[in-house]
Amino acid sequence: MSDAKRAAGEAAAELVEDGMRLGLGTGSTVAYFLDALAARGLDVTGVPTSEATAARCRELGIRLLDVATATELDLAVDGADELDPELQLVKGGGGALLREKVVESLAARFVVIATEDKLVDRLGDTFPLPVEVVPFALGPVGRRLEAVGFEIERRERDGAAYVTDNGNHILDARLPGGIEDPAVMDVELALIPGIAGHGLFVDMATEALLADGSGEVRRLTPRAAQT
Ligand code: A5P
Repeated sequence: MSDAKRAAGEAAAELVEDGMRLGLGTGSTVAYFLDALAARGLDVTGVPTSEATAARCRELGIRLLDVATATELDLAVDGADELDPELQLVKGGGGALLREKVVESLAARFVVIATEDKLVDRLGDTFPLPVEVVPFALGPVGRRLEAVGFEIERRERDGAAYVTDNGNHILDARLPGGIEDPAVMDVELALIPGIAGHGLFVDMATEALLADGSGEVRRLTPRAAQT
């Protein structure tokens, strides 16, 4: 698996050109991308999507860009927990979903790097949807999600509620049978007060680089982009 992640990360690093402003994702696949990017020695800047990614960039000497001044990014690269053939995504297994969505919404091109096993027919099949909730609203949001049909679990770390980089908590929400229409669910979740963000990334990814165990990488675009 790590060979596949490395292959996807290295393929994405090849897309980077001198002078680019980047969105830098979070997770184990992105870690390989960052290593490969640093090894290329290009003059680039990047907005990190988590404190963990920011720390790794500092170690690798990748210059960071403040999101406050980043109006448009050339390219964002990030992993995913699931993607479907339309390149709709579930993200947030690593807890960075909110900053990831903010940063990736600024990018002209958003490339997902993942292993082939992350490709599913229907989102929510294999992975619960992470929902970031402001602490005050944990109870009400949980009940609203259950009313929609989700089975929810509060994410924990060391026996206490997991806390995101934004000071919020995460409910991992599983919908039996998966998410039928990601675009509809995206809007439904946005209407629930107290949800700071959720891991459905609809119509954001412009392409995916999927790697298999042999290190072979294939490029996928949404069906709409193929016609
Ligand atoms: C981080 O919050 C996530 O959205 C990651 O992008 C996702 O969990 C993929 O991580 P891996 O590359 O570690 O599988």
